[in-house]
Amino acid sequence: MSDPLRVAIAGLGTIGGGTFKLIGDNAKLLERRSGREIRLVAAADMESSKKKEFALGGIRWHDDAMPMAEAKDVDVVVELIGGSEGVAKTFCETAIANGKHVVTANKALIAHHGTELALAAEEAGVVIAYEAAVAGGIPIIKALREGLAANRLTRVYGILNGTCNYILTAMRESGREFHDVLAEAQELGYAEADPGFDIDGVDAAHKLAILASVAFGCEINFKAVYSEGIRHISPLDIGFAEELGYRIKLLGIASRANGEIEQRVHPCMIPSEAPIATVEGVFNAVVTDGDFVDTLMQEGRGAGAGPTASAVVADLVDIARSCRTPAFAVPIADLDKISPKPMERHHGAYYIRLMVLDQPGVIADVSASLRDHDVSLEQLIQRGRAPGGAVSVVVTTHETDEEDILKVMEEVAALDAVTEPPRMIRIETF
Ligand code: HSE
Repeated sequence: MSDPLRVAIAGLGTIGGGTFKLIGDNAKLLERRSGREIRLVAAADMESSKKKEFALGGIRWHDDAMPMAEAKDVDVVVELIGGSEGVAKTFCETAIANGKHVVTANKALIAHHGTELALAAEEAGVVIAYEAAVAGGIPIIKALREGLAANRLTRVYGILNGTCNYILTAMRESGREFHDVLAEAQELGYAEADPGFDIDGVDAAHKLAILASVAFGCEINFKAVYSEGIRHISPLDIGFAEELGYRIKLLGIASRANGEIEQRVHPCMIPSEAPIATVEGVFNAVVTDGDFVDTLMQEGRGAGAGPTASAVVADLVDIARSCRTPAFAVPIADLDKISPKPMERHHGAYYIRLMVLDQPGVIADVSASLRDHDVSLEQLIQRGRAPGGAVSVVVTTHETDEEDILKVMEEVAALDAVTEPPRMIRIETF
């Protein structure tokens, strides 16, 4: 049996706690599978009260993680500090410079600095692994880099944020407003006290930028991800979606065509019979389209102590087995630069909902705007009767360019009879 793989964990929150427990509970199994013991030698957390909580028998405690990045008796550091800058970044850089492998669950760090960290790791002859950064327990990075290595991938998309999926599912099932359901999700611990990263699509955008890089063999370009969250989704739109045969999901979608890569995170209407439409609650799912494998969907828990620890420890097992797959599937020098496709050139179908005064001539004005911008109407629904008041009008379009839809929205919003800003949701048919 080889020497133990000596591991130090920085950050003992939910994932750190899960990792600590998994390594203890499954020690023998991990040893058999890795061919060597995976041994925790040090742990750090800013809250020294955690020291007792983790009953650190034989494990060295640090209030400050940084010395672990330089310690002679550490082979791998597990970075669970979080944040794209500051301590987490310096900790990883220091560990790499000191010849240590790095395992991280930090999607923000990888989305912003993944290429440079992976280059430093490559030059130092160590591994940087980040399976836990995307979709928690779903082994999607391994699937893209290894199981699907034979395929030219054309698209990868998914439900990448459990908080948003929980909120959208609960809104659909209960008919309640977004803010009501968000407050409940916060009480239940499914949403952070500051939920912005989740509900504004930033967390999903981090994950999508990473997926696009691995799937297409290009440098991560987080800035090129278009992102839009779920704050404006209303029960009215969810009801219309049902009526039209769709469900609303926050999706991250990356696709490659004609030398360009489109990366976008936004609410989508998707056919309710599509497999991904049935992924509900806090679950995540990732779908890949490959030229030989065809379409593949993986579903599972995208967060939580157990699933995320499962991903962290799988990376440790790889390192213990001396697997040296390039961080983004190809060596850093061979990664392409992304040529981003701007969102104005997105081509797709659209749902637009208007609130309009119930008076003659309004639909004619809306239709004129669609005609003037060469947008072809698929369906038009008007509900209710409210002489002198506002009624909702829904338009769905055939495939068209986003820049034309934006012009229509601007024109229609300026009509006297339109009482609220129009709402637009993109339709995906897959
Ligand atoms: N906050 C994320 C989610 C989990 O709601 O899916 C961690 O990325």
